[in-house]
Amino acid sequence: MQANICENIIECLGEGVVGIDTSMIITVYNQAAERISGLSRSLTVGKALSDVFPKDTWLTEIMEKTLKAGKVFIEHENIISQRMGNSVPVAVTTTTVLNPTNGDIIGATALLRDLSSIKSIQEESVRKDRLAFLGTFAAGIAHEVKNPLGGIRGAAQLLERKSKEKALSEYTGVIIREVDRLNKILEEVLDFANPRRINPLPINIHEVLDTVILLGDAMAQDKGVHIIKSYDPSLPLVIGDKEHLIQVFLNLIKNSIEAVARDGKIMVNTRMLTDFHLIEGSEANPQPGYKAAKMASVEIKDNGCGISKHDMEKLFTPFFTTKAKGSGLGLALSFRIIKEHGGFFRIESTEGKGTTISVFLPIA
Ligand SMILES: Nc1ncnc2c1ncn2[C@@H]1O[C@H](COP(=O)(O)OP(=O)(O)O)[C@@H](O)[C@H]1O
Ligand SMILES: [Mg+2]
Repeated sequence: MQANICENIIECLGEGVVGIDTSMIITVYNQAAERISGLSRSLTVGKALSDVFPKDTWLTEIMEKTLKAGKVFIEHENIISQRMGNSVPVAVTTTTVLNPTNGDIIGATALLRDLSSIKSIQEESVRKDRLAFLGTFAAGIAHEVKNPLGGIRGAAQLLERKSKEKALSEYTGVIIREVDRLNKILEEVLDFANPRRINPLPINIHEVLDTVILLGDAMAQDKGVHIIKSYDPSLPLVIGDKEHLIQVFLNLIKNSIEAVARDGKIMVNTRMLTDFHLIEGSEANPQPGYKAAKMASVEIKDNGCGISKHDMEKLFTPFFTTKAKGSGLGLALSFRIIKEHGGFFRIESTEGKGTTISVFLPIA
């Protein structure tokens, strides 16, 4: 009975527990360890620790030191590499297991604490600082560049008017077009650096999406792309700023249109979400943490080119773009707007298959 209770306690611990015997063979492997490593007990118990964690040689090393030299590690921070390629940051504490009668070391255990959510909050705050700096920096440059650009455009126009040569106007046309494109990017930069304050009110998100689809349709039709909507009619009002949300969803739809090939398909779905989620800090809700939140989910799903794993991490970084004429500000700006709404993003993408971007917004 006593042993059973102990086993139950170990099984239910939030921390992963990995126990080994004197030959470094795994003897104990609880549920949390399974979750952190992505390996089930049947694949681990009875196997050598070094075979189960071939990439994480550090774990075998510290366990060996604990076992052979009685050296314990406290909150040693490192990364567990899962087989599917994910890596989980952990803090590991090791202990020796002693024979109660003679005090000999008969094994060792490692307690693995999953640091993922703590790390993501820390990374978020580093990113925030970087964004604030980038914003000021970019706005400064944008201002500097805008004036001479105006001069260049004016001079090109003058040249066009004064010149009698037909061939020349082709060149001046290029100058004016490119200056206009640069100007558009600069406007976006300034918009990004000096955001307008949001004015959140209870709104019908379907009206926002209808406006966006209408605006996107012209672009989509040129390319033969179909936008299909599937709304949950019972979705309550959300708290949001209409103009800002139009901007966000227009960015997302545009990205999808640009990502799909001819005859591509874009789905716009809405539904209610009643789940536990990591809520990031926002103006309305400054404390990050897990909360039971009722949220509206808007999903934009395309069957386009998808996003590589490598690019995935950089999506929200200002100026990150894979497009020849992209500004790389669409997602960065959208991210900020959604955050100011107390909402969040989720992106799933498979290269060559397509991308699903979900936006979660608090309901009224
Ligand atoms: N739906 C999507 N499918 C594939 N890639 C996407 C999608 N949405 C965004 N991306 C990638 O994210 C990058 C950044 O997007 P964004 O911030 O809107 O800037 P831009 O569209 O100007 O490049 C894009 O260049 C693209 O590589
Ligand atoms: Mg874009």
